Amino acid sequence: MPSLSVFGAQWGDEGKGKLIDLLARDAEYVVRYQGGANAGHTVVVGGEKYILHLVPSGILHPGKVNVVGNGVAVDPLKLLEEIDGLRARGVAVSGANLRLSASAHVIFEHHKLLDQLAERWRGEGRIGTTGRGIGPAYADKAARIGLRVCDLLEPGHCRTRLKAALAEKNALIQKVHGERAIDLEGQLDRYTSLAERLRPFVGDTGAEVRAAFRAKKRILFEGAQGAMLDLDAGTYPFVTSSNTGASGIPAGAQVPPRMVERVIGIAKAYCTRVGEGPFPSELKNATGDRIREQGHEYGSTTGRPRRCGWFDVVAARFALELSGADGLIVTNLDVLSGFPELQAAVEYELDGRRFSTWPAHLAHFDRVQARYTTFPGWSQDITGVRRFEDLPREARAYVEWLEREVSVPIVMLSVGPERDQVIPRGFQPL
Ligand code: IMP
Repeated sequence: MPSLSVFGAQWGDEGKGKLIDLLARDAEYVVRYQGGANAGHTVVVGGEKYILHLVPSGILHPGKVNVVGNGVAVDPLKLLEEIDGLRARGVAVSGANLRLSASAHVIFEHHKLLDQLAERWRGEGRIGTTGRGIGPAYADKAARIGLRVCDLLEPGHCRTRLKAALAEKNALIQKVHGERAIDLEGQLDRYTSLAERLRPFVGDTGAEVRAAFRAKKRILFEGAQGAMLDLDAGTYPFVTSSNTGASGIPAGAQVPPRMVERVIGIAKAYCTRVGEGPFPSELKNATGDRIREQGHEYGSTTGRPRRCGWFDVVAARFALELSGADGLIVTNLDVLSGFPELQAAVEYELDGRRFSTWPAHLAHFDRVQARYTTFPGWSQDITGVRRFEDLPREARAYVEWLEREVSVPIVMLSVGPERDQVIPRGFQPL
């Protein structure tokens, strides 16, 4: 089957960057379909660390076509910064290996400012966004006042649309938030010159990907964020503003749903979350701190310490079901070495009621308590293990138990940040 889709099955930061980089070896196209520079995909190659925000993780393999689809909210400044950074490190980036959808919506200065101002306005109820303008840009898309990459490429048109958008946004910025208005001429100068630098990458990427599929090219769809941050299915309102799972692909890459063939979820062997919102298996204690330190759990986009906790079976099962996952890749198993015992959340409890399936309708998700199963830990360093049978008995038992609980085969394990630090378990390459 020529297409494979990989998505985060938790709250983001599951290690997708490394896995997508690894799987990109067998792909000819790597396609992003949602999110924006709120994502931070960390890839380590030969000891060199790359953090990719907008450029698909296939860029580090020569000869792949990397597509930023129409469903991505594109900050031209960040995209060009990333392209320049990659080139400075010797990575070839051109219109041949990086394609940008002409219909992708553009993130402007006012989106980033309003993202931050809205958070300030929300006070205690803040979402903890990345401040990258994601929510305001998608809101403008839905409100039909956004500008797309194709609008940016036509200066006259860009002026008319940006003028109309700024008239409304500046009223909000000044009158509600008491901040200084954004200058239209300054923005036009800046963004139209950025647009010229983007021009070589721009095209009808939907048509390009559909043609690639017809030509039986191998296509990897790269999800950003995670299932529990999905706008529709996640822990609303503490979510991001796009559809993060496989359901986001058809609209965000402009391909028919049947092009989404095999689907693989990625989850850490424990859980993390950045930003506010419900996290039933969170550990606000020394064990959580230890996971954070052993796992270097600090945001790759914002540097914020990640909230840490045990694996959540209820949430993972829901995430995998929602995207119709055929398999699961479990990452960061090595981070759990040295814990005398491990736990995993198997049920939720709220006001005396128990839930073993995701209680999507709950308004009071923040008060949910997780109930756990406990396992013996292992002390050995497993970062050098490459075969499942060479793992400590306790680690094998934990993985086999997880597999039974989520009812999806665990097709690969990751035991370190480098490309080769994986344990295959029946994963079929593209
Ligand atoms: P936004 O996407 O910047 O609007 O942020 C909304 C929520 O999603 C916040 O809780 C962010 O911390 C979270 N978020 C956004 N992108 C990522 C990511 O790539 N990894 C983890 N969390 C993310």
